[in-house]
Amino acid sequence: MSRITYKREIAPGIILMDVKAPSVAEKARAGQFIILMTDEMGERIPITITDRENGTVRMVFQVVGKTTAKLSAVEVGAELFSFVGPLGRPSEIDNYGSVVTVGGGTGIASVYPITRALKEAGNRVTSIIGAKTKDLLIFEEEMRKVSTELLVTTDDGSYGRKGLVTQVLDEILQRNKDVRKVWVVGPAPMMKATCDITRPHRVKTIVSLNSIMVDGTGMCGTCRVTVAGETKFTCIDGPEFDGHLVDWHEFLNRLNRYREQEQHAFEAYKREQGVRKRPR
Ligand SMILES: Cc1cc2nc3c(=O)[nH]c(=O)nc-3n(C[C@H](O)[C@H](O)[C@H](O)COP(=O)(O)OP(=O)(O)OC[C@H]3O[C@@H](n4cnc5c(N)ncnc54)[C@H](O)[C@@H]3O)c2cc1C
Ligand code: FES
Repeated sequence: MSRITYKREIAPGIILMDVKAPSVAEKARAGQFIILMTDEMGERIPITITDRENGTVRMVFQVVGKTTAKLSAVEVGAELFSFVGPLGRPSEIDNYGSVVTVGGGTGIASVYPITRALKEAGNRVTSIIGAKTKDLLIFEEEMRKVSTELLVTTDDGSYGRKGLVTQVLDEILQRNKDVRKVWVVGPAPMMKATCDITRPHRVKTIVSLNSIMVDGTGMCGTCRVTVAGETKFTCIDGPEFDGHLVDWHEFLNRLNRYREQEQHAFEAYKREQGVRKRPR
């Protein structure tokens, strides 16, 4: 059992939660995730390990459906039914020289441990973070502390530069030919768009795929993706892959496959609980 020790809504519909899980915290490395269940009858959902300290795992999630809504309602002091990890392969951290990390939406909290590890390894890390609007921008101060340079965008121009993270990345790659590698974590269309920007510059780009998962052990096949023409499983071969080799058409199709059922489940849950639909 894993007890929730802290919970805070850091932006509308975005929750930061600490869970006491010493064995997970001890082994976790940048890029890894956990799969949790709120209760015995609940679904299993993957969430990135944002930080770990004193036997506690920190995660940041957005309320988008039934299980994230249920998780946001679990009180501090309560136990989660299961909390398994660390899962997935850690990020490949090395001293590459000059690198860029890009985070969009809640992906900012997921790119944070990768950025920190890259900086600790001696890289010059330029970070670009973006959100739809100022209210939804998270982890700005945390990212500033672990980046050599931090650039901020909002889609509506309410804070930082108006526009998308991809525009800023394109400008950086135009003027700095020394960038060796890019990491990007965020909504799938944003990760695909980032790969479209970096491809002509021939800069290797690592994406963290947010595939739908069930068992997290490579057995069920739910998280199957095609990378360089080969079948891979995000839970055991990923979640990070070379974004230039991902079959994005297949990936985006698979991500949307259960959208109707997911929406029905969320609507039914909200009717039961009176939970307000959160902005996405
Ligand atoms: C390795 C990994 C790490 C992840 N880390 C985080 C994290 O740190 N923070 C976080 O907020 N989320 C993270 N996710 C996504 C998270 O697992 C889903 O948002 C969650 O499973 C949704 O469950 P739900 O029952 O609330 O919503 P569902 O009912 O399953 O879905 C509701 C809606 O949310 C969207 N959705 C569902 N699953 C995903 C998904 N995998 N990716 C994107 N959109 C989805 C769809 O539009 C869907 O209609 C991660 C996913 C993976 C695979
Ligand atoms: S979640 Fe079942 S194979 Fe990856």
